[in-house]
Amino acid sequence: MKVTEAKFVISAVHPDQFPQDGRPEVAFVGRSNVGKSSLLNALLQRKRMAKTSGTPGKTQTINFFDVNGAIYFTDLPGYGYAKVPKKVKEHWGRVMTAYLATRKTLRLVVHLVDARHPPTDKDLDMLALLDRAEVPTLIAATKIDKLKRSERARNLRTIRKTLGLDEDALIIPFSAVSGEGVRPIWQVVDAVTK
Ligand code: GTP
Ligand code: MG
Repeated sequence: MKVTEAKFVISAVHPDQFPQDGRPEVAFVGRSNVGKSSLLNALLQRKRMAKTSGTPGKTQTINFFDVNGAIYFTDLPGYGYAKVPKKVKEHWGRVMTAYLATRKTLRLVVHLVDARHPPTDKDLDMLALLDRAEVPTLIAATKIDKLKRSERARNLRTIRKTLGLDEDALIIPFSAVSGEGVRPIWQVVDAVTK
């Protein structure tokens, strides 16, 4: 899809605030600081549509973006950030689980993992949650620009193995810096939101 219009809609803290017009939706999840907001901006070709930051825990609400008046993208709070108080973590855990498990219009979840490191237990928990919710999932390995050529294939293999993915499961190497991965992600998004 060629992005002609991208608009921030709402920072939702409660399901009552979610858009209810039935448009197909794509969510972006992953650890705190993995690059969700950056990936969203790259897909939308906007520099600061979704707020990015060097400080983990920046995104604290479910942020909805209207793309071309046709689909929604949602930027979710990152998980696994140690400094967030336990009560806040538990609250967000419940909100996100409910969102991912019950949002009827959700067509795809793009699950971001850091290409530099093996996926963590928290990443595996998220994968299991998505599995239970039966939402189609696409893995994006972010910050791929930070890897040497020689590390690329090895790290992607480790990610595949740690997440227990099949040989043919799609993992998209992604960089918000170079733009690598933008097209392949759009191809999947287009296919599921038709
Ligand atoms: P939270 O909202 O806190 O969960 O973070 P997030 O997952 O939205 O991450 P965000 O997009 O804010 O990026 C975190 C940091 O990583 C920022 O300093 C980004 O500039 C940097 N970053 C994100 N993506 C990339 C990438 O592909 N390559 C490089 N080199 N840096 C990146
Ligand atoms: Mg963010």
